[in-house]
Amino acid sequence: MIDKVTIDRIVDSAEITEVIQEFVTLKKRGVNYLGLCPFHNEKTPSFSVSPSKGIYKCFGCGRGGNVVNFLMEHEHLSYPEALKYLARKYHIEIIEKEFTPEELQQQSERESILVTLSYAQKYFTENLFHSDEGISVGLSYFKERGFRHDTLKKFEIGYSPEKRDAFTHSALRAGYKLEFLKKAGLTIEKESLKFDRFHGRIIFPIHSLSGQVIGFGGRVLRTDAKAAKYLNSPESDIYHKSRVLYGIYQGKREIISQNKCFLVEGYTDILALHQVGIENIVASSGTALTSEQIRLIKRFTPNVTILFDGDEAGLKASLRGVDLVLEEGLNVKVVVLPDGEDPDSYSKKLSASEFKVFIDENEKDFIKFKTNLLINESRNDPVKKANLIRDIVRSVAVIPDSINRSVYLKECSILLKVDEKILYYETNKIRRKKAEQRYKNLKSFEESVIPPATRSGLTDFFEDTESQEREIIRLLLSYGNKEFLEIKEVNGDIRNISVTEFIISEISNDDLILENSVYQQIIEEFVHHFNNQIFLEQKYFINHPDNKIREISAQLLAPSYDLSKIWRKHDNYIETEEMKLKEIVPETLYAFKNKKVVEASKDLQDKLNEAQKRNDLEEIESIQEQIIFLNSLKKELSKNLGNRTII
Ligand code: CTP
Ligand code: MN
Repeated sequence: MIDKVTIDRIVDSAEITEVIQEFVTLKKRGVNYLGLCPFHNEKTPSFSVSPSKGIYKCFGCGRGGNVVNFLMEHEHLSYPEALKYLARKYHIEIIEKEFTPEELQQQSERESILVTLSYAQKYFTENLFHSDEGISVGLSYFKERGFRHDTLKKFEIGYSPEKRDAFTHSALRAGYKLEFLKKAGLTIEKESLKFDRFHGRIIFPIHSLSGQVIGFGGRVLRTDAKAAKYLNSPESDIYHKSRVLYGIYQGKREIISQNKCFLVEGYTDILALHQVGIENIVASSGTALTSEQIRLIKRFTPNVTILFDGDEAGLKASLRGVDLVLEEGLNVKVVVLPDGEDPDSYSKKLSASEFKVFIDENEKDFIKFKTNLLINESRNDPVKKANLIRDIVRSVAVIPDSINRSVYLKECSILLKVDEKILYYETNKIRRKKAEQRYKNLKSFEESVIPPATRSGLTDFFEDTESQEREIIRLLLSYGNKEFLEIKEVNGDIRNISVTEFIISEISNDDLILENSVYQQIIEEFVHHFNNQIFLEQKYFINHPDNKIREISAQLLAPSYDLSKIWRKHDNYIETEEMKLKEIVPETLYAFKNKKVVEASKDLQDKLNEAQKRNDLEEIESIQEQIIFLNSLKKELSKNLGNRTII
């Protein structure tokens, strides 16, 4: 295990934008960086990285965390793997420390389950090829179905004996613990009887992306059996049905090199197609695809061709599920097999080359295919036709890319004999509704996150921007050199910072410009003289060559100057203002920033209303993304207001 000190060093050295930029293109936006979220599909960026805080956050899909979380999530690394990745990148030597017994136990549970699963796979495979029962029952079944030995070996196919506890018995004798056999979903214990979940079935091991066995599917052989045709491993820390794609480990290389992935339903389809030389293929294992599975495919290619079994009822039921694939921005094609065939059965009726030719010749674009399929039914029936149009439009509306959308709408308008404008109108209606829903969700999320006090409270302390800006300048002039708070540096050092340093870094971090040009010039001169150790700000500004600056400085430094309202809030004045700088300076600044954000939000809201009136969808989306970004700033501010990193 990597010791705590090294972990801290790694995390501290890692520059989050540098790490993320290896995977995502980022652009600087104020203090933060913004890019297209790698975890969900989007066209306008809502993935924000804050170098100062060392965190990333997507305001679209909600994912967020530090640099280590990013690597774990994006690269599918474990925690120690992510740390090692960073250590290599930043040339940090890793000192591994001994595990404590508890750590060992925690860490090793996962390990133990994986080891147990791997043992089970070897046991089942050994049984299929080398036991009498395996050969006579399992192997002969595969032979009958035309599966070759090399195919079975490639997928590490196995056989679990009929005897109810044969596997568990053997595993326990080999030293595997009952606890892990149960956690791996291999052994079921009922009233102190132990039996094998998969007994009497042929076994399809399910592999992770890196080839580890993480679960099994088992098929019964007897046709008379009442038992379910397939049994799968139960859900666990290791096996999540919704995240795995059968065949991805064996297929990923071909998927990348062909830049295309075929999608089928079943285990046997995968085996059969590998056998005819089609390896860029995965199976959803019978259920509708989940977005996690789609994103897994998307890591390797944007092109998916779905092979549909040739029965019309099933086909129509599957159409809706395809929208999710479109929504992730993948290009979807379909091939429909002849009636009553699945890829396994049909690939065996033809030669390998005939089958490939069939696929090539029957591959159709999904939207066009769906339109043609439904068009026949709706002929001469206006109600059905209206439903059809709505249905097609729904599929087109989820496609993220606007150019793709418009190409489809043009084609569909010809196929459906409907004015293209009507299709546009309907598509935009759906997209707008979705965007609004998303925006509403986000707003209520923001409202639950930002404490009410900061949402309305602080902005009220000042009636206008002018007084806020004046107050900032007054604090600079009166206390600029004063070191008023201690901050903790990244390396743990404690450092005192002055009012000037605090204010100018806060203002320049967010690229803020004061509206009053005289105040702005004063700020700029503070920045200019910042490194000058003996800069005497009061003397300098009171004797400034510029009349206006001289005047304002004198005014602000006069003892009679009306003290700020924030200041009044902190009762007892005069002798204590200097002692209260720790509260006054940050509050003044954050209130100012907050106001800027609120103003910008209002601006955007007006623009949004206008864009909505014009029904300008692109503009609406772009404004909503800007609002999302502003909200992130607001949240950051409210955090600063609520709990400052000040000690
Ligand atoms: N499936 C499942 N559980 C079931 C039925 C099906 O997990 N009770 C999954 C399996 O991954 C299966 C796929 O759905 O491979 C497709 O089911 P089906 O078409 O019924 O099976 P085939 O793969 O065609 O299997 P076979 O050819 O051996 O009948
Ligand atoms: Mn089948």
